[in-house]
Amino acid sequence: MNTWFDVGAADGFDEGAVAPVVAGGQSLALFKLDGELFALRDKCSHGNARLSDGYIEDNCVECPLHQGLIEIRSGAPKSAPVTEPVRSFPVRVVAGRVEIDMA
Ligand code: FES
Repeated sequence: MNTWFDVGAADGFDEGAVAPVVAGGQSLALFKLDGELFALRDKCSHGNARLSDGYIEDNCVECPLHQGLIEIRSGAPKSAPVTEPVRSFPVRVVAGRVEIDMA
């Protein structure tokens, strides 16, 4: 079964930025860091905030609600009040299209 979902053209995402996307019916935050793409569930593990509304600092996203930090590449918690990881999803680029594995 195909679990990779197309979320748009690879050149449609800006370096050092985050964009909300939907794959397989789930809301995700898609980040571009040093030319690489990373996808996290678009919800902070601490509360009801969207990471696609957050600020990117170094390799982390700062939650817009209580300013907890989450590592973009892994979804790991980096600072309080975030203590639980955010699920991350594999991303690939095929023929100029971004695909996310929702398996
Ligand atoms: Fe994200 Fe509280 S909701 S740090």
